[in-house]
Amino acid sequence: MTVLATGLDTTGAEYTERRAQMLAKLTEVGSAHAEATAGGGEKYVARHRKRGKLLARERIELLLDPDTPFLELSPLAAWGSDYPVGASVVTGIGTVEGVECLITANDPTVRGGASNPWSLKKALRANEIAFANRLPLISLVESGGADLPSQKEIFIPGGALFRDLTRLSAAGIPTVAVVFGNSTAGGAYVPGMSDHVIMVKERAKVFLGGPPLVKMATGEESDDESLGGAEMHARTSGLADYFALDEPDALRQARRVVARLNWRKAHPDPAPAAPPAYDEEELLGIVPGDLKAPFDPREVIARIVDGSDFDEFKPLYGPSLTTGWARLHGYPVGILANAQGVLFSAESQKAAQFIQLANQRDIPLLFLHNTTGYMVGKEYEQGGIIKHGAMMINAVSNSKVPHLSVLMGASYGAGHYGMCGRAYDPRFLFAWPSAKSAVMGPQQLAGVLSLVARASAAAKGQPYDEEADAGLRAMVEQQIESESLPMFLSGRLYDDGVIDPRDTRTVLGLCLSALHTAPVEGARGGFGVFRM
Ligand code: COA
Repeated sequence: MTVLATGLDTTGAEYTERRAQMLAKLTEVGSAHAEATAGGGEKYVARHRKRGKLLARERIELLLDPDTPFLELSPLAAWGSDYPVGASVVTGIGTVEGVECLITANDPTVRGGASNPWSLKKALRANEIAFANRLPLISLVESGGADLPSQKEIFIPGGALFRDLTRLSAAGIPTVAVVFGNSTAGGAYVPGMSDHVIMVKERAKVFLGGPPLVKMATGEESDDESLGGAEMHARTSGLADYFALDEPDALRQARRVVARLNWRKAHPDPAPAAPPAYDEEELLGIVPGDLKAPFDPREVIARIVDGSDFDEFKPLYGPSLTTGWARLHGYPVGILANAQGVLFSAESQKAAQFIQLANQRDIPLLFLHNTTGYMVGKEYEQGGIIKHGAMMINAVSNSKVPHLSVLMGASYGAGHYGMCGRAYDPRFLFAWPSAKSAVMGPQQLAGVLSLVARASAAAKGQPYDEEADAGLRAMVEQQIESESLPMFLSGRLYDDGVIDPRDTRTVLGLCLSALHTAPVEGARGGFGVFRM
């Protein structure tokens, strides 16, 4: 064992201050989460209950094995937009009859559970996770379909929801639909395209057009039950495989369906796992409020990996990027963590080599972000920083082992890409409340804009308005700062959630367990041309 040492002074002023700053940020994130769990608010929740219905999260709770965790994904979707936080749908990973499943549940208390552009993005992300990790998909359906005022944003791309269901099925990944209420028009294709369908008596409404639309179209008189009730679909159309007497009965039957899937994980048994040697609570006091000050990522690694046991790779070479091998909840991982913010040529080459090694050995990779990007300047350009950064980005792009990314601090510029940012398809990406991500830091960006404006004025022979420049810089800085914050980025689905640093090991453990449902196989070749 190579147990990491710690230099963290948990009695010192620096730790206390960092911890206080992190806790303040966590309070903000906590209130945004509370907004999401409140759904449509008191009035709509009360109405829903009065109708004898369960809330979306209560349905999930009854579906899951007792006392097992639910890893909720994208809970802050739509934050900062015109739509309610959470985007009228709950998604996440939970265990049903011992099987890790991807669960989605419409929240009918939010605008009738209708899907807006953010609900669509969130649902598509959930499908992507189900597909990549081979997780059975369970849809708990009760939705007003498309959010009609925003139909132009969702009608055409929304077709992907139904496409995904049948592609999952074609890939042998089970899909289960449980219909609790409205599932009309396009929504009818959720049960329509699912492998297994359960409908709740006198509640499910599954039709292409409701009674008013049918009357308009053909003049026929009809009613909800005969057009699309559970009983009709179970006895007559055959769309429902199982007829449930009420909501708990539907969830019980969904559990029976999963129990009979004969679903087996590709890698079922992780090695026994010892907890880290240091307290996870201390993860609160590591990241500085001002991200310009560096911090040692080994302090983080020591608090998330099994037994704090970490074998560092090339510790003396490219020291601004820490790389090495560990286990997390028994699963092997290769870790790449930014140590001093900047990525130089040596760090980039070391990363490319490390990623290739992980691929040869079929070991998932964990990227811990705190980078301001690749180094700029004459010396570095002449030293080939572009081609070395490209080498790292090539390795990340074509690597086939699963990647996990955690944004701890800064994640700026192409450094975000090289460290497996969102566009590089990490299986999961989470941010700490201390994270910031943008093309560059707010001050730097405002400064660059100002220099460009100054040069432009000089070229035209015009005087430069220093006062206006100061105002502009302050405004731009503030704008970029707010756009770099994790809640803003999470609202746009650029991560899978903002997590409490203390939960990092648990969250990553749940992800590692879920992703081992699919075979973990590295790329044995298939990289692009490495520009040496
Ligand atoms: N788009 C936008 N807003 C919608 C909506 C939709 N598809 N469906 C419902 N809403 C809104 C309602 O206008 C209402 O808003 P308000 O409370 O501010 O007035 C709120 O959501 C709740 O709807 P309400 O009808 O009171 O809820 P309900 O639980 O009694 O009924 C539905 C829910 C979904 C059955 C019903 O709203 C409905 O039939 N909606 C239209 C469904 C439809 O035709 N969708 C198009 C399919 S592509």
